Amino acid sequence: MCGIVGYAGRQSAAPIIVDGLRRLEYRGYDSAGVAIHDGRGIETVRALGKLRALGDALAKRPLEGALGIGHTRWATHGRPSEENAHPHVAGKVALVHNGIIENHAALRRELAADGARFGSETDTEILAHLVDRALSRGAVNLFDAVRVALSEVTGAYAIAVLSVDEPNTIVAARHGSPLVLGYGENEMLCGSDISALLSHTRDMVFLEDGDVVELRGPTSSEGPSARITTIAGAAVERPRKRIDWSPTMAERGGFKHFMLKEIHEQPDAIAATLRGRIDLENGDVHGSEIGLSPEVVRGIRRVYIVACGTSFHASLLGRYWIESLAGVQTVVELGSELANRKAVFCDDDLVIAVSQSGETFDTLAAAKAAKSRGARVLAIANVLDSAIPRLAHGELYTRAGPEIGVASTKCFTAQLTALLLVAVYLGRQRGALDATQGASLLEGLCAVPGFINELLGDADYVRSIATSLVDATDVLFLGRGLNYPIALEGALKLKEISYAHAEGYAAGEMKHGPIALIDSSLPVVVVAPRDASYDKALGNVQEVRAREGRVIALATKGDEAMHDLAEHIVWLPDAPEHVLPLLTVVPLQLLAYYVASRKGHDVDQPRNLAKTVTVE
Ligand code: M6R
Repeated sequence: MCGIVGYAGRQSAAPIIVDGLRRLEYRGYDSAGVAIHDGRGIETVRALGKLRALGDALAKRPLEGALGIGHTRWATHGRPSEENAHPHVAGKVALVHNGIIENHAALRRELAADGARFGSETDTEILAHLVDRALSRGAVNLFDAVRVALSEVTGAYAIAVLSVDEPNTIVAARHGSPLVLGYGENEMLCGSDISALLSHTRDMVFLEDGDVVELRGPTSSEGPSARITTIAGAAVERPRKRIDWSPTMAERGGFKHFMLKEIHEQPDAIAATLRGRIDLENGDVHGSEIGLSPEVVRGIRRVYIVACGTSFHASLLGRYWIESLAGVQTVVELGSELANRKAVFCDDDLVIAVSQSGETFDTLAAAKAAKSRGARVLAIANVLDSAIPRLAHGELYTRAGPEIGVASTKCFTAQLTALLLVAVYLGRQRGALDATQGASLLEGLCAVPGFINELLGDADYVRSIATSLVDATDVLFLGRGLNYPIALEGALKLKEISYAHAEGYAAGEMKHGPIALIDSSLPVVVVAPRDASYDKALGNVQEVRAREGRVIALATKGDEAMHDLAEHIVWLPDAPEHVLPLLTVVPLQLLAYYVASRKGHDVDQPRNLAKTVTVE
């Protein structure tokens, strides 16, 4: 959580940093701040609330200078407040931080005994004091002092630091939280992710854990530079990469919210995730990125998928596909739950870690544990070079482009696409599918963008249904088989942005409890396309109607029986069964969006959430 940006160049730093923070606001948005070096000293401005509050504060007190750092916060230690907002200043030092300093309490006591005074409740301020203490104890420069300070802390961090004595230098470092360097024209930047830097450069370096970097802005005699070392001071080289995302991909492009834009981008995200990976002639998937040779695939005894939130729902569908298409036993586990027991992994396990951000703490921890116990790890992630794909033996990137809305939409359907590719790949290499079956499954997948475009054409109808849900305090979502994870996902989308209580349930479980909730005030969304579970789903709808529940159904075009039972129906195209989840989720995303939007909520940045959850 939290986003950081640093700028060292020739232009006025504050607006550039605020613009970068705007693109990182999805990471946290309870307070924000900047520190700018004006050549004589460091000035900071911080504000409680979203970034626009910082913009207002800077309008009243503009900061001049071509070197600076900034931060947007998601509170962990200390409530959201101006005092707890970053940058934190100690003596000559200003510092921003993303992550958690685990030994902060002991260090706070030690620093207090040395006479330090604290202005916040944060763990971050401790680190600022450590750097300042290292300077006052004789460190030769800021770079040296930061390395000394980092050797005293445990935990996770990405930091950027300024010193009053060095008007041309930012020192940054990463350990467990991401940090990217941008090589602009006559300027150096750093930031928590690519999108923060894209409007300045596409030439980037992804720092590794343990890297410390000294960024220097241009002078009259020298261009900008970056020097990377380990904490111990040994020089390291990191490759420069050219990023193919464009700055406009991280803009709203005429849509009211990023979430709505991202829902509409799903056909493109799926097409991009498929591009170059399908061999229709042989009914197979090109598997080189997956990093699993046919021999290894044939030796896999179990697939273990770990993920959180929406990615967990995608994984439940992954299990369905891998078991039915490849015939391999598949287990799905929440990353956060895996941490609570000593799960057994074997070297013939394939562990698939699914994460949009590639950074989620619990998923990362689970993938690390699996790897250390001998399993092969495959990452499915959207963010290039993020922590989970870095650690994995193979990776299959979803190519959804930047997803800014906190509620995940296009990354979910791109994950489903990737998981289906993996299932077909495993099925083909293990001989569970022949070429004809493989080709037919892949052709179905290739048709999905067209089907989604068809569904998006009915967005206005979904908006009209949403009107009837605006006052609902509880909504039940039901589905069976492939539709059950979609019911869970529909409920998650609605609750996270509309703040209504929404519950996803396996339709077959209804009579084991939730049926007691049903009366004329409870809207029940039933995901019931014409598939193998359809007849039973129809039975559930009848049970809900018999108790006067209000049914909103997702049904296949031409379903007369449903027509007579449901209050509202979103009609689905008659698509192949295995790709239905990529379609049924779309109206549910729209439904959640329109309910939240009608309620006037901040759809892209719902309360209490952050897009990237790097804490346990
Ligand atoms: O980046 P990840 O896919 O690992 O994130 C997992 C969850 O935090 C995420 O899916 C979360 O549930 C979203 N807010 C859902 O919309």
